[in-house]
Amino acid sequence: MDKPTFKKSLALKKRIHKLIPGGCHTYAKGDDQYPEFTPPYIAEGKGCRVRDVDGNEYIEYGMGLRAVSLGHGYPAVVEAACEQMWKGNNFARPAAIELAAAETFLDAVPGAEMVKFAKNGSDVTTAALRLARAYTGRDMVAICADQPFFSVDDWFIGATAVNAGIPQVVRDLTVDFRYNDIDSVRAMFAEHRKRIACVFLEVEKNDPVDRDFLRQLKRLCEAEGALLVFDEMITGFRWHLGGAQTLYGVTPDLSTFGKAMGNGFAISALAGRREIMELGGLYHDQERVFLLSTTHGAESHALAAFMAVVSTYREHDVIGHMAQQGSHLKRGLEQVIGLHHLEDHVGIHGFPFCLVYSTRDQSGQPSQPFRTLLLQELILRGVIAPNLVVSYAHQASDIDRTIAAFDEALLVYRRALDEGVDRHLVGESVQPVYRKWNRRADRLVRHASARVARRHGT
Ligand SMILES: Cc1ncc(COP(=O)(O)O)c(C=O)c1O
Repeated sequence: MDKPTFKKSLALKKRIHKLIPGGCHTYAKGDDQYPEFTPPYIAEGKGCRVRDVDGNEYIEYGMGLRAVSLGHGYPAVVEAACEQMWKGNNFARPAAIELAAAETFLDAVPGAEMVKFAKNGSDVTTAALRLARAYTGRDMVAICADQPFFSVDDWFIGATAVNAGIPQVVRDLTVDFRYNDIDSVRAMFAEHRKRIACVFLEVEKNDPVDRDFLRQLKRLCEAEGALLVFDEMITGFRWHLGGAQTLYGVTPDLSTFGKAMGNGFAISALAGRREIMELGGLYHDQERVFLLSTTHGAESHALAAFMAVVSTYREHDVIGHMAQQGSHLKRGLEQVIGLHHLEDHVGIHGFPFCLVYSTRDQSGQPSQPFRTLLLQELILRGVIAPNLVVSYAHQASDIDRTIAAFDEALLVYRRALDEGVDRHLVGESVQPVYRKWNRRADRLVRHASARVARRHGT
């Protein structure tokens, strides 16, 4: 690969913040999450490859924040969506495809009895909470403290450091418990007797779930009169077509899906027990719940994309492929980490179909500057790896190229441990999303442009 340049990306970066707060539509894609000097703005993608606006090509591991499991522009999905679009995508009354998509979904997730579609994960997690509050007549929600994200809405963001604009009365209604720690759930219930409407968690993240914890959690929720909600945004269509609930055989009261359901098309789902879900329906005589009623909720091309995704999973062993390539990647990376004697500083974690990495400094503390350095050195070698999420499009040759890029990047990491990371970082460090204050964005853009100009003599 030629030495990449980022001139057009940096020019875009300068303009975009004047028009769009944050410069993007998901904080995880923001400039503060990527090295200052290497901010590739993506022009197009195919499979696991993307091209930035400067024409540099990369192997990508973000895969649309884990939404793209088949690869960018997967033909069967794009064709199904286009075909449906030509038939019109939003009518006065429901489209027939809404029933077909519901049947497809409930066939894939056998524990659920009803489903309602929406466009974003947050729409459906928030809907699950409203439904749980209406069903139980309680107002509090318990979330797993060891998991990073459930919704953009107040009930969740209010529990993070970025809680500006969220009233204290709302924040006070969200409490937490620890993953795989049933005693912490018991203590939480004891402290808020008969106030918890539901308990929210991802069944599995980076650490294996203790199946006994899961079974006890379900029993405890039943005993306490709270609903159990599994957030399957990431586990759905990665751990199993039917989510972790199907893989582990524990059925929650409600569950939420999104991301890989549409291979990048906007589609999400709230699913669960009929008795609860029907509160949002027309044929009961209890108080009505206003459940997921949006203009674009059942846009028919996204439903067609979803059905094509399910067909592809049924035709091909998509999850088996991701597990195989992810295992190959993990093995190879651990080998090069060992070769550079960096086991105490760089770690590969999680499940093969959804890996992440950690970076630690000289004293073994988690380090954002070292994360920035690794991101920077990988981008310079044609790999964008905010995490190590593979797709059905990643082939063994892509994985081998990635391992080779890591091998070279780790040489720089080793040197930075000895000489200081600042000497090797071209710009400032990335920042955690959940922080109260910003750095001065205008200063960042000026510095980045000046540095690029120096490096390229422009
Ligand atoms: C576990 C989990 N739940 C919910 C969400 C929210 O989904 P969305 O970004 O589609 O609103 C996310 C998004 O990253 C997520 O990872």
